[in-house]
Amino acid sequence: MSAPIEAWSTDEGATRATDAFRDAFGTEPAGVWAAPGRVNLIGEHTDYNGGLCLPVALEHRTYVAFAPWGDDQDDEHDDGQVALASRQEDGTWSAPLASVRPGAVDGWPAYAAGVAWALGEAGHRVGGFRAAVDSCVPYGAGLSSSAAIESAFGLALADTFDLGLSSSDEGRLVLVDACIRAENEVAGASTGGMDQSAALLAHAGTALLLDTRDGTRRGIPFDLAGHGLVLLVVDTRAPHRLVDGQYGRRRATCEAAAAALGVASLREVDPAGLDDALACLDDATLPDGEVVPADVVRARVRHVVTEIERVQDFVGLLEAGRVREVGPLMAASHASLRDDYEVSCPELDVAVEAAVGAGAIGARMTGGGFGGSAIALVDRERLDEVAAAVVAAFGGHGWREPGLLTVVGGGAGERVAP
Ligand code: GLA
Repeated sequence: MSAPIEAWSTDEGATRATDAFRDAFGTEPAGVWAAPGRVNLIGEHTDYNGGLCLPVALEHRTYVAFAPWGDDQDDEHDDGQVALASRQEDGTWSAPLASVRPGAVDGWPAYAAGVAWALGEAGHRVGGFRAAVDSCVPYGAGLSSSAAIESAFGLALADTFDLGLSSSDEGRLVLVDACIRAENEVAGASTGGMDQSAALLAHAGTALLLDTRDGTRRGIPFDLAGHGLVLLVVDTRAPHRLVDGQYGRRRATCEAAAAALGVASLREVDPAGLDDALACLDDATLPDGEVVPADVVRARVRHVVTEIERVQDFVGLLEAGRVREVGPLMAASHASLRDDYEVSCPELDVAVEAAVGAGAIGARMTGGGFGGSAIALVDRERLDEVAAAVVAAFGGHGWREPGLLTVVGGGAGERVAP
């Protein structure tokens, strides 16, 4: 069994990103900023439905060494150039800042340069820049490596161009919005705002309860060590299948169902009246003309409404210090995502079953699904046993060995050097 994927220390991350910057540009960066990936404890596919979710920041972070486009640099454009390099990607990408906009940037630079565009759209003046990225957030693992990039760039831009947005929650909310716009409009992924909120607003040792209807948030105690527990993350390394199309269809189906029920979002559906609401639903026609049958629409709505209730119950248990009792809620969440929302996959189901079978207190898929990662809440002394059982189950299916990491609950993104 391979060793768990360790988070880099802040020094290691800053040094790696600085080295990447020197290699790419032959000069020194002005500073290094970092932002974390996340797991979500519960509340999946609720963030674009006005619902509740409960992410925890990883200690695994993306590091960005950054410098403003200098006067010394050859620049025929008033606003400067953007030049980007990443240890996770080949080559250097560059373009005039003024050319960065929706539809004009492909690949990972959309997450990075897109934030500069979004800040500009929000009335903040930013100039050109050079930046180099290195990251220990696993890519393509459903752990929000893209939001980590966006958030680290948001903080770097805010500090470098004196936007005054990184030192208060109010300012950080502006950055969250810019990161969401970068992802939705420049990268073209119609995700909700959970990941960016976690990366920019999390506090160490707490889970972040997000209410996406009114934008409020609350830190919920998440002291696993105090309870002798560990959160194990299993990166299934399953190929993401049709992620973008499927995610967008789920979102469009929810929006069509809310419109059919005459409510602003599915958050407005009273769980006590769920059966009546479901009975009112018919086939739904999505904006692209696809017709979703009524029974499928009902299943999607049932997932969202029951999942929001499960978040409330989960938070109640955490606040009462009864974290060891969350297993049934995690099981119900996973079953709902698998059967009603249909975003799980065989690898996620096997990870969850193997973890629980080996004594985990609870387990479920986390994030958008269709591959990605599962989480398992485990007694510290059973960690090796549970991890070995998951690895053995994957081996039994002839699948690639999953990646493993553990989570304590990290803090939000910040400047880490100098
Ligand atoms: C992805 C999206 C989030 C959220 C989750 C599902 O991670 O980026 O906004 O919708 O899926 O809960």
